[in-house]
Amino acid sequence: MKVLVVGGGGREHALVWKLAQSSHVEEIYCAPGNAGIRNEATCVAISPTDIGSLLTFAQENAVGLTVVGPEAPLVAGIVDAFTAAGLAAVGPSRAAAQLEGSKIYTKEILRECHVPTGDFEAFDAPAAAMKALAGKSFPLVVKADGLAAGKGVIIASDKTKAENAIRTIMEDRAFGAAGSRVVLEAFLEGEEASFIVLTDGETILPLASSQDHKAIHDGDRGPNTGGMGAYSPAPIVDAAMHQRIMTTVMEPVIQKMNERKTPFRGILYAGLMIKNGTPYVLEFNARMGDPETQPILFRMKGDLAETFLLLHKTELHKARLAWRSDPAICVVLASGGYPGAYEKGKPISGLRELDTLPNIKAFHAGTETAPDGKIVTAGGRVLGITATGKTLAACRDRAYEAIEKIHFDGMTFRKDIGMKGIKRQAR
Ligand code: GLY
Repeated sequence: MKVLVVGGGGREHALVWKLAQSSHVEEIYCAPGNAGIRNEATCVAISPTDIGSLLTFAQENAVGLTVVGPEAPLVAGIVDAFTAAGLAAVGPSRAAAQLEGSKIYTKEILRECHVPTGDFEAFDAPAAAMKALAGKSFPLVVKADGLAAGKGVIIASDKTKAENAIRTIMEDRAFGAAGSRVVLEAFLEGEEASFIVLTDGETILPLASSQDHKAIHDGDRGPNTGGMGAYSPAPIVDAAMHQRIMTTVMEPVIQKMNERKTPFRGILYAGLMIKNGTPYVLEFNARMGDPETQPILFRMKGDLAETFLLLHKTELHKARLAWRSDPAICVVLASGGYPGAYEKGKPISGLRELDTLPNIKAFHAGTETAPDGKIVTAGGRVLGITATGKTLAACRDRAYEAIEKIHFDGMTFRKDIGMKGIKRQAR
């Protein structure tokens, strides 16, 4: 079978790497891919949001399975288009992808299902949102309603900062049309975890838990990014918490989507804040997380392509996935300036040396091959150095030792990836 992976980040590199291990897969295409994916799949220069060209490519190349990495094509209806053409594509319909496409939609679903989440109010005009600030406690979370590449969430420590956030989102339109509506949400303290499931609408198959590090700086300081590192499993999600997340979050939401006649079929990712034993939903994503996918797939035992095909056929109950007991970690190396403006085209050294190390993989994100054949930076998040080891501390040491071999001008990364998990295990 030929497989098409849509996207070109670290998540997609990890998907390509894992799918290539399947006995069902004879060839992988990736649109558009990156300099690392190029070594493991045939890269195709089509944008992930050019659904018409992706569909034509899949039809002309007899693609048997399409796996969609990023949210934008899902929210734009790529799965509906492929399904209408009789092609298998993994991911929710446009209607169901609203669980990621609109924060207000998600909050309404959560409220209907009585799923724990921060108290919130939604506004479609800045004046009304500003007025409502008078009755709020701070810090307050100000969120753009629509897609904003993980950056549309601002934590305002006081009223003035909340007013500025509303202006940035709704008046300056810093996140484009995503800011036509805004959510003001109570700030929740606790520890974050990512919980991702595969579902065909009938069976819910949980993947291993993980924890992301969204802020740019150590100690969770600074603006949010797409994710600066992740590890799996997350010790905070023990067996009892796993069960609680399934019964109080995943099962009611997936049932509600069925009742609404917009079944969610694909990958559902709950971003959770765990506080006093209760998992509160911060957000849903309609796809795998990036960089959570990298450590999760490093630990996955089983055939991912076969599992996706079973999901497509609504036979997910037949899937058999298991997890290596060894944890895995991914540390993201980013361009200087990210998540703000950054330069591209910086040559990356040390990748060959890293390739020779055991239990380590550099998943590429924002990289490309320059005309002279050198691999250069081409995005904010550049590489995800992923390592496995007997303990989380051993994974961490291995990843950070490997990072010493990599260099590009402006390279920046967090030094504390995995520390929360290590501290929790030491308690
Ligand atoms: N790592 C966060 C996300 O994928 O949205």
